[in-house]
Amino acid sequence: MNAYRAADLIGAKRDGGSLDEDALAWLVQGYLETVERGDGPVSEGQMAAFLMAGMLNGFTEDEALALTRVLVESGDLLDLSGLSGPTIDKHSTGGVGDGTTLIVAPLLAACDAQVVKLSGRGLGHTGGTLDKLEAIPGMRVGLEPDELLRIAREVGCVVAAQTQRLVPADAALYALRDVTGTVASTALIASSVMSKKLAAGAGTIVLDVKAGDGAFMPTAAEAEILAGVCVRIGVAAGRNCVALVTAMDQPLGRRLGNGLEVAEAVQLLSTGPTGRLAEVALELAATALSVARGEGAVPSEALRAELTAQWSSGAALERLRAMVSAQGGDPAVCDRPEEVLPHAPVRRAVAVGRTGHVAALPARAVGEVVAALGAGRARKQDPVDPAVGVDVHVAIGDAVNATSPFVTIHARRDEDADRAARRLADVLTLSDEPVPAPPTVLHRVT
Ligand code: URA
Repeated sequence: MNAYRAADLIGAKRDGGSLDEDALAWLVQGYLETVERGDGPVSEGQMAAFLMAGMLNGFTEDEALALTRVLVESGDLLDLSGLSGPTIDKHSTGGVGDGTTLIVAPLLAACDAQVVKLSGRGLGHTGGTLDKLEAIPGMRVGLEPDELLRIAREVGCVVAAQTQRLVPADAALYALRDVTGTVASTALIASSVMSKKLAAGAGTIVLDVKAGDGAFMPTAAEAEILAGVCVRIGVAAGRNCVALVTAMDQPLGRRLGNGLEVAEAVQLLSTGPTGRLAEVALELAATALSVARGEGAVPSEALRAELTAQWSSGAALERLRAMVSAQGGDPAVCDRPEEVLPHAPVRRAVAVGRTGHVAALPARAVGEVVAALGAGRARKQDPVDPAVGVDVHVAIGDAVNATSPFVTIHARRDEDADRAARRLADVLTLSDEPVPAPPTVLHRVT
């Protein structure tokens, strides 16, 4: 690797230039040394200046590809070669009521795929799979690579926290981006997401790129661009990679909050695929399996029928039970979720107040209410409350009357429920005219 001066590389980016992989590697490794040892050649201020210059002037797709490789090479790789059957990973760019992982992982395992899924925690208005799983008493998400692989071999699926040795440069850069207003760059998001997926080793990667007010990407067009960059990075690295763009302009699931989302996943796996959450989960699983089996990015009817059969027969629920048990959690959550999961002391149904048709229930605002009840965190180190949240009884397009409850709030204290009820009533928009139910799966990017 050549030696550079950080100021020259920042200047090149400021003036609209692009950097090659060698320069990016020097910059990223130099900053990682600063974070890890305190004496690297790239200071926090210099890395922040570089990120902002790139954010404002844009990165080329070659830079995104190169940055991804540099990030992957900063740490260890998970070796999944000892697993039998197709290895599949799934990633969502994050949203509200997005419990798809809790369904997709056991469903794919029931179809003889192996899913090793490294997930994240909630931040801001979005939920995180690890926080949801930890609502199950005893559940462990901090697993070493040996244990991850053993559970994947025995059960077919395992969902755990990313280990510190995987892509450490992404953790360092993401923490800096978070506090310097440099998260929302397509190239930076794509390289951050894909570096973690590539390091996690799966042969097939399916991405769920959310579009809407509750997502990083507010419009479907922007989400499609991000999905395209991610897919091209995955394919360039020799993986099967496909993305769906799905709607995040209203909550996806009907139950929002850590324990409530586990209960919803268990209930859906017990009763069969109905509703918008199930639709996205089924489409992600079908797309991933189709690509993994070399049948193309559009799943056949036969493959959809196979997945639906595994779901409806209870086979996917059995895989979830086995995974929970293998990770130390109480498997009875799959039989009696309401008994096993923690309860909030205050439960409050809120009526709509007038007759009409639901025109909007914005995901971001609803997610903020759920987080403020205690289900989410403002800072990374904050604890989350597994019991609180909101059940949403309506979706865009539903006809409602004045007395029907549109949400039920699960809160720690009466005053928390009062505040949440006022805010939710404010953000619910009704129309006098019928409103068509919007589509949930918007695009497929291959
Ligand atoms: N999720 C990630 O992992 N990285 C980003 O940059 C944004 C979302």
